[in-house]
Amino acid sequence: MSGRKKDAGKAGILRGHIKGQVHPALDRINKSFDVDRRLWREDIAGSKAHARMLGAQGILAAGAVKKILKGLDQVAAELDSGTFVALPDDEDVHMAVERRLTELIGPDGKRLHVGRSRNDQVATDLRLYLVGLGRRVADALRGLEALLAARAAAHASDLVPYYTHLQRAQPVTLGHVLLAWVEMLDPDRLALDAVRPESPLGAGAGAGTTFPLDRAATAAELGLSKPARNSIEAVSSRRDAVLVLAHLASAATTLSRLGADLVLWTSREFGFARLDDSVSTGSSIMPQKRNPDGAELLRAKAAVVSGALARLLEIQRALPLGYAKDLQEDKPAVFEAEDAVLQMIEVAEAMLSNVTFDVDRMRAAVVDPSGYMLATEMADFLVVRGVPFREAYQAVGQLVREAERRGVGLEALTDADYAAAHPALDATVRRVLDPDRAVARRRIVGGPAPSNVRREARAWSKRLGA
Ligand code: ARG
Repeated sequence: MSGRKKDAGKAGILRGHIKGQVHPALDRINKSFDVDRRLWREDIAGSKAHARMLGAQGILAAGAVKKILKGLDQVAAELDSGTFVALPDDEDVHMAVERRLTELIGPDGKRLHVGRSRNDQVATDLRLYLVGLGRRVADALRGLEALLAARAAAHASDLVPYYTHLQRAQPVTLGHVLLAWVEMLDPDRLALDAVRPESPLGAGAGAGTTFPLDRAATAAELGLSKPARNSIEAVSSRRDAVLVLAHLASAATTLSRLGADLVLWTSREFGFARLDDSVSTGSSIMPQKRNPDGAELLRAKAAVVSGALARLLEIQRALPLGYAKDLQEDKPAVFEAEDAVLQMIEVAEAMLSNVTFDVDRMRAAVVDPSGYMLATEMADFLVVRGVPFREAYQAVGQLVREAERRGVGLEALTDADYAAAHPALDATVRRVLDPDRAVARRRIVGGPAPSNVRREARAWSKRLGA
């Protein structure tokens, strides 16, 4: 067993030409197994594909390949069940798996790393991981979007103010608002679902290898799109991770805005929504409080995700071409971003399935005469009568000022007021001062009409498989 002990130490495996033990401070900063053990499934899959290919290419004997594959399955089983015992010298997941493999199957384990470097290995592991990450997040987003679409269908014709500058602007439907979130999230879902990077495996340390590796075969077995065309790019680039994190950051930012709206809508001032007890939090001193902590954390957690994206970019900024250990720090960023986004989606779903919209309060805000939310309808009425829009805008602006002065709505002004503001304005304009009608007539593509919302919600539910 003395041979095994020597192999297990870094002095044996990676420091053949370097004398003595590594300084403990360097050892600590260099070691990444605690973080990158999360890549073990991808690492085992990559090693199995590599081993099979080495066999097919006649580089490894069939017997050795068989033992390696069986050994790798055993290592995987130990990692899966939690019985894997890490040794102090397990620098990263790649060395840990190889060390354990060799312990289990003996000298054939030492044949696996031919034509491969940890540089193409870790790049392959990470790109494979991104595929799974993309799917996990896309699936979670699908559930959330389906929930939003279902709630939108149920509120297709309920009126709610649309805000610009957080000031009441024009009436829309609640269903239209809910579908806006779906539209914002869905491009990120689709992109994450379609992540399919090229395979770095076979790029070696970054300069390829003289062995006749079948890179197309390993790429295909791993479900990656094709072999990366350039060995240097293959080991040096973290572009795929950057793009995935950009989509995570984009989705997280959308969820943070959703959180912000929930916070506003559940406030007494808005009163548009009420959180069920299961998603309300209390105060340690004020017995009456129902706080929207979950929605607030949606706002803040987005910072973790965009921070991870910024970190990943910063790690690569000005990094000379070729692999450098800086790149080891890519993984915490990826993992933290994934964890935060999945948690956010889960919380958003919990909040949205346990919130009751107060449709009466929303309607009251729309019809509140002091909001003048139908002023544009009035101007449009004049435009239909041939008045240039800018002239109509001025005339209605005058009427709004007058109505404000008297503390009434536009419909309460007299026919004489209308005529004074513009000769083309008469009593029939009151017909357009009806919010339900105003919204129902916005059947334009992308508009908030109930008929649109019903159609769109149905289409989304179908598309999302709900
Ligand atoms: N743990 C390393 C990483 O995450 C693996 C690659 C190490 N390569 C090297 N030449 N030291 O990047």
